[in-house]
This record gives sequence, structure tokens and C-alpha cells, in this order.
Amino acid sequence: MTVKLLALSGSARRASHNLKLVRAMSDGAVAAGAEVTLIDWNAFVLPVFNEDIESELPAAAVQLKTLFASAQGFLIAEPEYNGGYSALMKNAIDWVSRPLPGTPPGSVFKNKTVVIAGATTGRWGSVRSIRQLREVMGYLGCIVLPDTLSVNEAGKAFDADGKLLDAKTAELAAATGAALARVTAALHKP
Ligand SMILES: Cc1cc2nc3c(=O)[nH]c(=O)nc-3n(C[C@H](O)[C@H](O)[C@H](O)COP(=O)(O)O)c2cc1C
Repeated sequence: MTVKLLALSGSARRASHNLKLVRAMSDGAVAAGAEVTLIDWNAFVLPVFNEDIESELPAAAVQLKTLFASAQGFLIAEPEYNGGYSALMKNAIDWVSRPLPGTPPGSVFKNKTVVIAGATTGRWGSVRSIRQLREVMGYLGCIVLPDTLSVNEAGKAFDADGKLLDAKTAELAAATGAALARVTAALHKP
């Protein structure tokens, strides 16, 4: 059975370093046999979550939740904003955590696997945001793999094609994706 993974950058920025990083992680997952769907945030523009507007449900929330529901695991590359993970990611998590009409009941997170890495232009990389997001994903019932990668000074880390310049870092990024693919496949072994 082919494992289905969802890949998410915590930044919607067009030239996002985290988008480049999650692509590198996805390459590793695909090489290990997984099928990866990369989220394009421009196709899922969500309002800031507010229980008052849940009844006027944005179509993007239903579509996003459907994608989360169909995935068996999540690959995430998360930036750091003011010492925390991104509002974009928290907003998406809050929307897809809700029981939306037209989508199957139950949690889209419980017992799903997740690997969380991240990149920032700062000296310390995404260490704080990765730690915080690991806690939230664990709270939601995800199996958070120990594999991770924090890329610092991301402005210098990628070439013009969006590939990681340092071979060891590229290897680690691919290894996070491969680890997620392998563990998820093992959990879903018939
Ligand atoms: C509002 C804001 C806050 C930021 N806070 C941090 C931070 O706490 N730590 C850090 O290393 N970089 C910080 N940065 C720099 C980001 O790491 C940098 O903009 C990064 O490229 C964002 O990720 P992206 O390339 O995927 O869009 C901040 C940037 C912005 C715009």
C-alpha cells in the first residue's frame, strides 16, 4: 500500500525557505515510496478562526480538512515568528480540527504521524517553533517522530533552484521525509 502524506510549509510566502525545505523533505519521502501532496496556501485562503463564523463555513476549510483526513501523515517545515510558530499554521490546525459538515466525523490528527522541521534566516533556526508545534501536534493525538531539522541562516542555505546547498543538510532533510514514509508504512502494514 502506498502511504499518503501531506506536506505543509508554515509560510505562504512565494519565495518561502520553508516551502523549499518541505520540498526537500518530500523528495526523501517519495524516494522511500510515499505519495506526497504539497499544500499551496494560495488555494486555501482561510479567515482567522472564529466560532461565530463556523456556520458560514469557508469552502477552503472543508477542502483542507478533506486533504488532512485523506493523509496518513504530515511533513511540516515551520518558520519562526517572534519565538513562536506561524499564525498560518495555527489557524489551519484550528479550522481542520473542527467537525465540519461534509467531512467525515472524528479527528483528522489522531494516530497520524508527523515530522516537523523548519528554517529561519536567524542564527538559531526554528528550534523554538519546532518545539512548540511538536507539543500541539502531540496534544492533537499525532505520533510525533523524533526526526527533525532546523536550518539557520536560510537566506544562504538554498541555491537559485531552491535546493539545499550543503550536502549534509540536504541528506538530513531527505532523511526526515524518508523516516516519515517508513514509519507510516510500518504502522499501516496490512
Ligand atoms: C514578524 C517576523 C518575526 C520573525 N521572528 C523570527 C524569530 O523569532 N526567529 C527567527 O529566527 N527568525 C525570525 N524571523 C525571520 C524569519 O525566519 C524569516 O522571515 C523566514 O524567512 C520566514 O520563513 P519563510 O522564508 O518560510 O517565509 C521573523 C520574521 C518576521 C517577518
